[in-house]
Amino acid sequence: MVNRTALKQRILQWQYGFAIAAVVANVSIAITGAVVRVTGSGLGCTEWPNCQPGSMIPIEHPELDMVHQWIEYGNRLLGGVIGIIGGLCFLAAWLSRPHRKRVLWLSAAMLGGVFVQAVLGGITVRTGLLWWTVAIHMVVSPVLAWFAVLLVRSLRESDAPPRPRTHPWVPRVLIAQTVVLVGLLIAGTLVTGAGPHAGDQKVARLDLPVSTLAHVHAAFLYTFLALLALVGYLLWRGPAPRDVWKRYFVLVGVVLAQGAIGFVQYFTGVPSVLVVLHVFGAMLVTVATAALWAWSRERPATVEASQHEQFATASP
Ligand code: HEM
Repeated sequence: MVNRTALKQRILQWQYGFAIAAVVANVSIAITGAVVRVTGSGLGCTEWPNCQPGSMIPIEHPELDMVHQWIEYGNRLLGGVIGIIGGLCFLAAWLSRPHRKRVLWLSAAMLGGVFVQAVLGGITVRTGLLWWTVAIHMVVSPVLAWFAVLLVRSLRESDAPPRPRTHPWVPRVLIAQTVVLVGLLIAGTLVTGAGPHAGDQKVARLDLPVSTLAHVHAAFLYTFLALLALVGYLLWRGPAPRDVWKRYFVLVGVVLAQGAIGFVQYFTGVPSVLVVLHVFGAMLVTVATAALWAWSRERPATVEASQHEQFATASP
């Protein structure tokens, strides 16, 4: 017989792990989504939620390659795993006493986001991979990864109002940087919409010149880098705890690497491998920016938060 108290304790102990898993899973599904696209497997499963008429899973089909079916289906399975992780995040938040409003909301976002993505994925398939449905489906993943990072951070702080741990201008510049990041990600999906990797050969594309869109996309990157340099200057003016500097340099590293991949893929005719790597990089840039954002401010521990922490880490 399952000991319910022990199970509850175990779920609470693993709450931090569930939140980390949510970050990893949301990054991973963007990568598998890119694999679906570049391998032309977007319509490997022709139906939603079934893969083929009358079958939930891939089956032999006279016109559809089994590999394409499994690539598309694998992406759907990963969606299921993210649903389970989101469910565990929410369950742990619900079982915690006292309830933490912020943790509950962020955990609910993990679970709700999976449903949103499932519906968007269904619309994408049913519209035959219309470019803007693919773009919206893609952009939701970085949003969920951002919330997952906030969830990780929220488990080690209280629900009190945030206060800066750095120069007071850093959070303001980071807001501007986040707005630019949103523009950068959206512009990227427009380049994809006009580019060669549609997910299926017969799909209508965004009818705009790829080079113009790529220049707009890159312009967002230059603005992002300028703001990042400003954040660096403000951190140098101080105060700046070591963990904030660490996150700053991680972000500088991933942004520069991502920019380099972007240029290389642009000038080499967007090879599939680099497209997948570029989507991975986009997710890492998002996670690193979210981490810098979350660690550059703090919500001082209250009695409520420390009780929550003690309960969550108590041995079974
Ligand atoms: C931090 C910097 C960058 C980020 C976060 C970023 C992000 C993105 C995103 C999210 C996409 C859409 C992926 C998709 O819809 O599946 C994309 C596509 C693209 N990006 Fe970037 N990007 C960055 C820098 C660059 C740079 C500097 C270039 C060079 C011009 C570039 C070239 C491209 C190209 C050519 C595509 C279309 C690839 C395709 O056809 O699928 N990117 N980028």
